[in-house]
Amino acid sequence: MFLRSTLSSLCSHTVRSSLVFHTTTPSAGLHASARCNHAVSASGLCAMPAKTAKEAIYDQSKGPEESGGLAKVLKNNEAWSEQKKAADPSYFKDMEKGQKPTYLYLGCADSRVPAESLMGLQPGDMFVHRNIANMCPSWDVSVNAILQFGVGVLGCKHILVCGHTNCGGVHASTIPTLEGKNLSAVNTWLRTIRDVNRAHADFLMSIPDEKERLLALIEINVVEQCINVALTDVVKSTREEKGGYPHIHGLLYDIGNGLVRPVRPELKKRVIDAHQEHAHRIFSVDPSSVFPNLKQNNIKKNEIK
Ligand code: CO
Repeated sequence: MFLRSTLSSLCSHTVRSSLVFHTTTPSAGLHASARCNHAVSASGLCAMPAKTAKEAIYDQSKGPEESGGLAKVLKNNEAWSEQKKAADPSYFKDMEKGQKPTYLYLGCADSRVPAESLMGLQPGDMFVHRNIANMCPSWDVSVNAILQFGVGVLGCKHILVCGHTNCGGVHASTIPTLEGKNLSAVNTWLRTIRDVNRAHADFLMSIPDEKERLLALIEINVVEQCINVALTDVVKSTREEKGGYPHIHGLLYDIGNGLVRPVRPELKKRVIDAHQEHAHRIFSVDPSSVFPNLKQNNIKKNEIK
């Protein structure tokens, strides 16, 4: 049971190397954290005087990591805030009024792929969801909630599904099981990408160059996730109501040169064709509606650069 949900109510005596959002166990009357044995009041809150949020944060910045760790990002943040205010004194006041992003971004969590900045977008422009290998499995509550809220409530008009070169998640999916400690959740997650790999195995194995094969899988995975996005209730119904919006765009970010480009049309066609072959059995909508502008007749089957 979370009795403390805000930073300002944290017990300052427990804030050292990481933020601890305390839970309390009323029956025991003690914090659940092993680092704090302070008695709690009847309300379940720590009876010791709490420091302000800022003091609690800055306590953590002390120690051997003066040039790094949390101190670094807090200092950067302060400079960023000042810079924004200097350029526009009402910037943050305007932000407080609400958000109306044009774009919904579904991308990989890779630290080399900064969603907004690589596209020159600003806070408020894009509703962002990131996970390993930019997946949108139908069973994932988080991504479905993002789509429901981003499309259904915020009204995002463009959904950007963005993969990237050298994607470790997609590459890991080509390995039967990742060996190592505490990787069960990663392996579970990778199963969904392995399904993509398996569905296109014949084509992928026809590509002799390993690097090209991985790139093809990365792009094919983007297209598969675009289809998953298109098949969600909220996207289907919103498209019917709003003349085709939101549009779905399958993209690839090249870590080697910083450029974003659309997924290769021939790979889009390949995936769409594969789904259409089974559409009558699997889907309730025509998968070709995912990319209405894709001119399939202009693309030779099996063509790949
Ligand atoms: Co990745």
